[in-house]
Amino acid sequence: MHKGDPDNHVVWHESVIKKEDRQYLHGHNSMMIWFTGLSGSGKSTIANVLQIELFKKGISVYLLDGDNLRHGINKDLTFTQEDRKENVRRTAEIGSLLVDAGIIVLAAIISPFASERERARSIFNQGEFIEVYIKCPIEECEKRDPKGLYKKVRDGKIAHFTGVDQPYEEPQNPEIILDTTELSIEECVKTISSYLFDKIKIIQVKE
Ligand code: ADX
Repeated sequence: MHKGDPDNHVVWHESVIKKEDRQYLHGHNSMMIWFTGLSGSGKSTIANVLQIELFKKGISVYLLDGDNLRHGINKDLTFTQEDRKENVRRTAEIGSLLVDAGIIVLAAIISPFASERERARSIFNQGEFIEVYIKCPIEECEKRDPKGLYKKVRDGKIAHFTGVDQPYEEPQNPEIILDTTELSIEECVKTISSYLFDKIKIIQVKE
């Protein structure tokens, strides 16, 4: 857990109950699995299926979906570069609290800027931030257009759309890359599950 700005005269209160205690209660370690990619690439779909799979195995898991967060905590944010940065910052901070609470967190959020994703990574402990790049060319995302948004963009009804008139910076070093033009949803989830196999450590109840 990062301790904030030491110059703002706010004192950090150390919790008696530690992250390790909470993880022990949940029966496993906790981490952030961060899905990035264009709108329509498959982030939410894959994260949702993975969430169900982990949940069925008895894992305490919670999905932070960019679209859903924008209905509540991030309601005040638009799609300017500044607001997208704030969107990523808040999502990472919420994720960090949940990881501290012992939960495996999935975040499905475009997060188009490499520097902001790195900033998000930096507030987690080493090995507790897993970046999953859901790779899909814009042409294919536009063809799928699950929410009809690309059509609206082409009709001039939405501006600053990621990949069209706002940049998406591809991750250079993500832990996992999944090309959804080649892999099915099930294959993507299987790849992540295999990766997680030795990362999720089941904590045995002490005798
Ligand atoms: S982010 O860029 O700030 O990380 P976020 O994941 O929260 O984006 O929200 C993206 C979702 O908002 C998209 O999946 C899409 O449904 C919707 N959306 C609406 N306007 C835009 C826009 N201008 N650019 C991208 N997504 C948009």
